[in-house]
Amino acid sequence: MTKLTLDYHYVLPFVSLEEIKSLEEVSNQCREKLLKKTGKGNDFVDWVKWPQEITNDEIAKINACAHRLQNLGQYLVVCGIGGSYLGAKAGIDMLKDYYRIDEYKVIFSGNSFSSTENYQLLEFLKDKDFSLVVISKSGKTTETAISFRFLKELLKEKYPQDYNKRIVAITSNANSALHTMALNEKYEEFFIPSGIGGRYSVLTAVGLLPFAFKNYDIEMMIKGSRDAYNHFSQDDFLENEAMLYAAIRNLLYKKNINIEILGFYEPKMRNFGEWWKQLYGESEGKEHQGIFPSSVIYSTDLHSLGQYVQDGRRNIMETIVNIVHPSNDLTIKNTLDNLDGLNYLNGKSLDFVNKQAMKGTIIAHSEGMVPNICLTIDDVSEYSFGYMAYFFMFACGISGYLLDVNPFDQQGVEAYKNKMFELLKK
Ligand code: PA5
Repeated sequence: MTKLTLDYHYVLPFVSLEEIKSLEEVSNQCREKLLKKTGKGNDFVDWVKWPQEITNDEIAKINACAHRLQNLGQYLVVCGIGGSYLGAKAGIDMLKDYYRIDEYKVIFSGNSFSSTENYQLLEFLKDKDFSLVVISKSGKTTETAISFRFLKELLKEKYPQDYNKRIVAITSNANSALHTMALNEKYEEFFIPSGIGGRYSVLTAVGLLPFAFKNYDIEMMIKGSRDAYNHFSQDDFLENEAMLYAAIRNLLYKKNINIEILGFYEPKMRNFGEWWKQLYGESEGKEHQGIFPSSVIYSTDLHSLGQYVQDGRRNIMETIVNIVHPSNDLTIKNTLDNLDGLNYLNGKSLDFVNKQAMKGTIIAHSEGMVPNICLTIDDVSEYSFGYMAYFFMFACGISGYLLDVNPFDQQGVEAYKNKMFELLKK
């Protein structure tokens, strides 16, 4: 099975192979810090070996819980913010069919203070059978807690005898108000290991329970991530895509390229981009440093941001993810009148056109002085999701260490909370 490859051909006009190789030693040191827990934030690197450590019992417990919730209704509300929902949203959007109406539906809540969104969700759920997974490692995040309060009230109204059977809490078991609530009210509970931070938690119950509710094969996801761990933790620098990715983006950053755009040519990857933005933005944007992460869906966004990328300020790099095998394809056929002038594509597949758009854009953008890293994955599958999510997390750890920041804290997030709490007179 092809896993993930990295092509740096369109980076070489901007950084030389010698420059890339010059980071081999320091990259190895960064990897050792991750693997041996000797770097900054070392009490938050348990995600590194998690694919090896998650037990079959835990996976079976997650699948059993998902089936129990399916029997209670076709809707599951996942209440969480940041790392407590973005991974699940990314995976579900990646794996679901575009227009098929799935039997089991996951709705995300608790990720904004929007009164309109919260109100309309409560209205929508009034006549639906639903369960609720509330996810908060700290157990006290305000957006999530408020939404949970409303949703729990609705559950109590609808199911006064056994509303608590419809609530699952995913939290830490230390100092979490949510854990105390779960004990008091007897919710089923899963624990996020204390050494795994929110944005590195997608392969724990945080992501796996919503995936299992959608009937996705979570064992294949873990297999993908385990294979990724085995490769990235052992293989040499020049054969190690995670280390190369981390090294190249740091070399470009030192050349004043401080914006990275992650691009896909498959619209359902948009939320993978959202997950990636949080992972890299929250891990590296500190001490007045770091690449600003942004994401696009091409060719759609070539008709909006494409102009800027081609001709705007030259401080951008792109990382383009190529998916070799689309889930489906179509063949373009001749028409008699050829009024739309498309007969030159007779017999070509739509995916072929998409791939030529990708290749042409990579060439145009790199000629326009935007370095392009090209990642290739085989397909859209549970295995690829697990492999690619792990790739980006492992690379992020190394990249943060190359930048010499702590990739596992997020002190900056507290600033808005403190000001907001002052205004709310907490
Ligand atoms: O990566 C992180 O740790 C954060 O983005 C958190 O996931 C986010 O702030 C939500 O926190 P919590 O799960 O404690 O509610």
